[in-house]
Amino acid sequence: MRHNFSASLFVMILLAFASPGSRAQGNVRDAQGHPWYQHAVFYEIYPRSFMDTNGDGIGDLKGITAKLDYLKALGVDAIWIAPCFPSPQVDFGYDVSDYQNIDKMYGTLADFDKLQTLGKDHGVKIILDFVVNHTSDQHPWFLDSSSSRTSDKRNWYIWRDGVGKNAPNNWVALFGGSAWQWDAKTNQYYYHYFYPQQPDLNWRNPTVADAMYGTTEWWYKRGVAGFRLDAVDSLFEDPDLKDDPVLPGINAYGDPNVDHQYTQNLPEVHAVLKNLRTVANKYDAVLIGETWKDTVAQMGAYYGAGHDELQMPMDLMLTKLKFSAVIFRAHISEVNATGEWPVFVIGNHDIPRSWNRYGDGSHNDEIAKDMAAMYLTLRGTPIMYYGEEIGMQNKDPVRREDVKDPIGKLGWPKEKGRDGERTPMQWSDEPNAGFTTGVPWNVIPDAYKRYNVANELKNPDSILNWYKQLLALRHTDAALLKGDYLPLNENDLNVLSYLRKTDGEAVLVAINMSAVQQKINFDLSKTGLSGKPAKTLLTNQASLRNNSSVTELTLDPFAAYIAQITK
Ligand code: NOJ
Ligand code: CA
Repeated sequence: MRHNFSASLFVMILLAFASPGSRAQGNVRDAQGHPWYQHAVFYEIYPRSFMDTNGDGIGDLKGITAKLDYLKALGVDAIWIAPCFPSPQVDFGYDVSDYQNIDKMYGTLADFDKLQTLGKDHGVKIILDFVVNHTSDQHPWFLDSSSSRTSDKRNWYIWRDGVGKNAPNNWVALFGGSAWQWDAKTNQYYYHYFYPQQPDLNWRNPTVADAMYGTTEWWYKRGVAGFRLDAVDSLFEDPDLKDDPVLPGINAYGDPNVDHQYTQNLPEVHAVLKNLRTVANKYDAVLIGETWKDTVAQMGAYYGAGHDELQMPMDLMLTKLKFSAVIFRAHISEVNATGEWPVFVIGNHDIPRSWNRYGDGSHNDEIAKDMAAMYLTLRGTPIMYYGEEIGMQNKDPVRREDVKDPIGKLGWPKEKGRDGERTPMQWSDEPNAGFTTGVPWNVIPDAYKRYNVANELKNPDSILNWYKQLLALRHTDAALLKGDYLPLNENDLNVLSYLRKTDGEAVLVAINMSAVQQKINFDLSKTGLSGKPAKTLLTNQASLRNNSSVTELTLDPFAAYIAQITK
């Protein structure tokens, strides 16, 4: 068929002047051909702990708004706010009792709208946390469902008869005990993968699914740019209630270890993700997945066979790896080999702080900088966790009576809970780290006197200034934004090095992940860049600031070096 040039031109003009309504395909791309979320830096905010403006010791939405200048100057393009909806706070907000409002503790919908409007002015988009697997047991849906066996909403949750005097089967909750809770009023059990106060929704009921899709649309219309989907792996359970295989040993809560074969990763989730994506695409919104996976292949499935599920399944495998050039290189290569767009994460509100996890006990600051140099220069989208940029450290409770997170109370002493990684943001060396004028809801680590925003802004060698420089570079350098990932020196045991390369530009990154000085030579012959001059873009090794060749480099312990190679 003859190509109709003028028709194509007409379509191109139409697309160029597309109205927001015509962005329905979710296909809006920037000048480099990337959808917005691929060039954005995301930042997770745990709202309880970010900034308190009314002196009740708990962070709030006005606190986030007050810190938009900070976020913009840091180089953040989108914030994911952990649940800020009305909630009895049994699981600190992951037990939602109203999906379409803001918890009074955090403010009002008007505060949210203001945050969003000012966020827009600052170029900071808002991502909300959608708790899809369960509601609170105080959600009106559950109150209705549990009111009688004939309630209209009975089938919105998973109710079953027991077997004799026992629970329906051997399913174990992730947060301790049986996953079945007896309800004396209606003489049945309901299913909960997490706490008993978090009953699982019945996603096999299309009315539930529609209500949940409608919730996302309600927020998109209000202007949110996407969702982080909580616990996506637990949406479905085996309808025949087959027992999960029992494994040897017991867990921190004293329950038998089980393989969650019939309560996790059921394939039905993919249809739900496709439907959520269809709604998201109407608003050019992004879906981020809480995808705890064991293999890159398992993670790959969440993009969807037709790229029609999650745009950003989080690579949480990275958080489990040891700080090692060899281990990181192997993982990054495997992730890049899939051709998908990676989503790198080194910390969040459920795992110990990255400073502690990767640190060796004596070079933790240097290692924190190395981690930043790596995951902020890789091909993919990074999601930061608040406070990581100033080297915040875990502060676990030392006595059971001080624990706030229920899993810490239940699992003590093996499981201390997650309070340690959720301590208030350290803004200054003032009392309470400048977080609140009241009594902070959680302890503030003593290290705040040194590790805080105000001090670190003044110190050119601080972790914070290192992050700022890396993020500035990441936003402006075309090779870092969109270049391919090409590993270099793949047999080096200590230095992780790679190129980010487009047709027009190349950036070399070399990170000494050892405590010993390393001399390295790069064989760039296959890349056509041998002997080409280099221009240092960023380094924390003073002697390399004016370096102009990468033929041979001597890297100090834990030093990182980033240079543009001129073709
Ligand atoms: C994952 C969340 O990140 C975690 O904090 C929460 O406790 C569980 N999902 C249950 O919602
Ligand atoms: Ca407050």
